[in-house]
Amino acid sequence: MSVSTKTSIAGVELDSYVCNASGPKCTAYSELAELGKSDSSAIIMKTCTIQPREGNPKPRLARIGEHGLVQSMGLPNLGYKKYVEFSTKLKKYGKPIVASVAGFSLNEYITLVEAFQKSDVDLIEVNVGCPNIEGKPQVGYDFGQMRDLLSLTCGLGKKPLGLKLPPYFDPAHWDAMADLILDYRVSFVSCINSLGNTLTIDPWTRKTIIKPKKGLAGLSGETIKPISLANVRAFCERLGGKVSIFAVGGGVSGVDAFEFLLAGADALQVGTAFEINGADCFTYINKGLITMLKYHGFSSIEEAKGKLEYLQ
Ligand SMILES: Cc1cc2nc3c(=O)[nH]c(=O)nc-3n(C[C@H](O)[C@H](O)[C@H](O)COP(=O)(O)O)c2cc1C
Repeated sequence: MSVSTKTSIAGVELDSYVCNASGPKCTAYSELAELGKSDSSAIIMKTCTIQPREGNPKPRLARIGEHGLVQSMGLPNLGYKKYVEFSTKLKKYGKPIVASVAGFSLNEYITLVEAFQKSDVDLIEVNVGCPNIEGKPQVGYDFGQMRDLLSLTCGLGKKPLGLKLPPYFDPAHWDAMADLILDYRVSFVSCINSLGNTLTIDPWTRKTIIKPKKGLAGLSGETIKPISLANVRAFCERLGGKVSIFAVGGGVSGVDAFEFLLAGADALQVGTAFEINGADCFTYINKGLITMLKYHGFSSIEEAKGKLEYLQ
């Protein structure tokens, strides 16, 4: 039986179900070119800001367990103008290019979205999982700021605009965010960003493992999969096929990819497994997904998408 993992996000076609996530190994042009040559079905670029940033002091990333990471990178990036340039140079790889943007004010978000609307990217992912105005929660946790952000950025051009969302843990928050997404016709969502503000301690040195933010760090990798699955499912139920869904968070194997597909995700982004294992992960995760599809008698992504069953 021939099985295809071709899929699409907001009308943009992807040759396979699996691509990279913004963050790991996608900051420099050389890293993006490696993604172009790899089996990642898209090139998602590092979240960029208006000005280049060095990021936080090191150590700012550490491995925990076999498949987990904690990090407080502080958005090191080359500044958005470089990524606008890169989007043109990366065209030669013939796969979709995704910009990821984060502003420190609503005006910065407008500048960033406007710039990428005029660039060669295919999709724009707005990262709302970073602190914005001092003393306020990150934008994704502040529904008032979210409404302002969407009202100012959604009409700025024709390229599909999506939201990279933080994890939510309460159905009321899924409801509120889904209403905003539908009100402003957001084209896709990426669920989830790393689990914010977790603490890891070295009991032998009695110190935090990460230096910035008194050791508070984003958690990613295998341990967060149940949270990302729940968020994907929650948005799949609420957005009813009108908005594409990128799963992201704890996808490290073909079995994980199949679970995200059953939960309703259109495609899977992989961050931690790429950081730890390199570009082979795109190949073996997609191959493992094909094995799972064959086992269950599905021949395409469409056939299996959202087919999660509940215990009666
Ligand atoms: C080192 C590192 C850097 C990251 N930087 C970004 C970033 O710049 N923008 C963003 O939206 N997410 C960033 N993330 C979050 C990932 O895109 C992803 O949402 C998260 O790690 C969960 O997926 P995973 O378990 O497959 O890693 C970063 C993650 C890691 C590990």
